[in-house]
Amino acid sequence: MSHTFSLSRVARLVGVSRSALQRMVKEGTLQSQNGQVEMDELLRVFPDVKWEDDGEYARVEEIKKKAFAKRIFERALPDREVLADRLFDLSTEYAAAKSLLTHYEQLFDWTLKKLDDVAESGGPATLQAVSSLKQWLRGQIQAAPKEAGRGLVLLAEESVMRIVSAQVKVLPSGHEFFVEGTDTILEAALRAGIPLNYGCSNGNCGECRARLVSGEIKKVHPHDYTLKEVEKNAGYFLMCSNTAVTDIVIEASVAGATDIQPQTIATKVKAVELLDARIAALHLTTPRSQRLRFLAGQRVRLSTDGVAGDYYIASCPCEDRHIELHVRRDNRPFARKVFDDLRKEDPVTIEGPQGTFVINMESRRPVIFVAWDDGFAPIKSLVQHAMSLEMAESMHLYWVSEALPHYQDNLCRSWADALDNFTYVPLSVDGGALDVAEHILGVHNDLTHTDIYAAGPAEFLHHLRDGAIARGLSPLGWHGEVIV
Ligand code: FES
Repeated sequence: MSHTFSLSRVARLVGVSRSALQRMVKEGTLQSQNGQVEMDELLRVFPDVKWEDDGEYARVEEIKKKAFAKRIFERALPDREVLADRLFDLSTEYAAAKSLLTHYEQLFDWTLKKLDDVAESGGPATLQAVSSLKQWLRGQIQAAPKEAGRGLVLLAEESVMRIVSAQVKVLPSGHEFFVEGTDTILEAALRAGIPLNYGCSNGNCGECRARLVSGEIKKVHPHDYTLKEVEKNAGYFLMCSNTAVTDIVIEASVAGATDIQPQTIATKVKAVELLDARIAALHLTTPRSQRLRFLAGQRVRLSTDGVAGDYYIASCPCEDRHIELHVRRDNRPFARKVFDDLRKEDPVTIEGPQGTFVINMESRRPVIFVAWDDGFAPIKSLVQHAMSLEMAESMHLYWVSEALPHYQDNLCRSWADALDNFTYVPLSVDGGALDVAEHILGVHNDLTHTDIYAAGPAEFLHHLRDGAIARGLSPLGWHGEVIV
């Protein structure tokens, strides 16, 4: 069989995360050429898999849904015209396969007749040889390979996937995601946590321009921005106005922290949730047509009713209009407002984002996240973003705090339960910054191939960084954010 599947589709079909598959390819337990896996190889490596049943992928999706309260892998149908185009493409493939099969059947019948001619012109020995050969050929045709049934299920499942979703590969970054339902390419990328460059998100600015390298797209929203004729001829299109009809490859730039323009957004309080006696989670919702553009790990300025404060965003950029922030109970006016009298539907203005404590999107190295007390907010956003991108080989989370259990201890434990490449260790500050840093580093003797993201007081970060560099961490692998 020569049918091949992309690693992203294999992840969905067999219920294993993409990072786990990449690890298998690296270790040589799964053969893949240019990110494609042959069907025979898939059936060989996953002989017992029940498609989409109880695998790691399903568990990951479940935990993402719970953690992010967002729609993932929802079987929403695409726009009718897109659906018709996809069905037409699939029917064309089916017709081509059927015609080829008919041709092979004719060829087989013709071969049997030719063999009869040979038998007639030869002696008894030839007759016997031809008869045995024909018997063997018929036996081979009837004895379908034992994987054939499983292969058919696999192909059928993949066909359904291709009708409800299309895969997008982004060059040069190599990110992959699926466009589902009525999403545009830009919406699907943002849901997947991939910060492609964009501006207005409604066809006015041209910032989301990308180039189609292969595949078919369809305009699903009108746009006022006019692409030059030379751009159109070169394959440029607007990601906020188009969806993918088939699997596509595009050239598009991924935004860094300095590419995102400051925004001012009038939000409403969705809830103030007391996480423990000291920390409240402030949940905000942006207007229906607006989402805050930010990268995991960044902070914003919040203001309401004449008071303001700077806080780190604790939610993932992959969430639609929901923004979560952790507010410590202290004497700052904004904190007092949150704990004393901020109510559902109250207005809160967000200005930002700010900060460069963000994920290195290029790296696939194992990641160590370290949060000191309410330094957990940016770390939580980074962890969720890294989970959404399935980018790291493995993730380790250390959360150091005065009060145990930590205020979102259950959430961290659920991540560790759901993902086999994720560990979580809660730690107490007892012993001080140096002891805690040494305790963490004692678990990781060789850090030459690792990234560390740590948020906490300057003294702790100083000990952790020095110790990590002594264990081989590259200065480029260190990402520290001082929390005051
Ligand atoms: S984001 Fe402005 S045109 Fe697409």
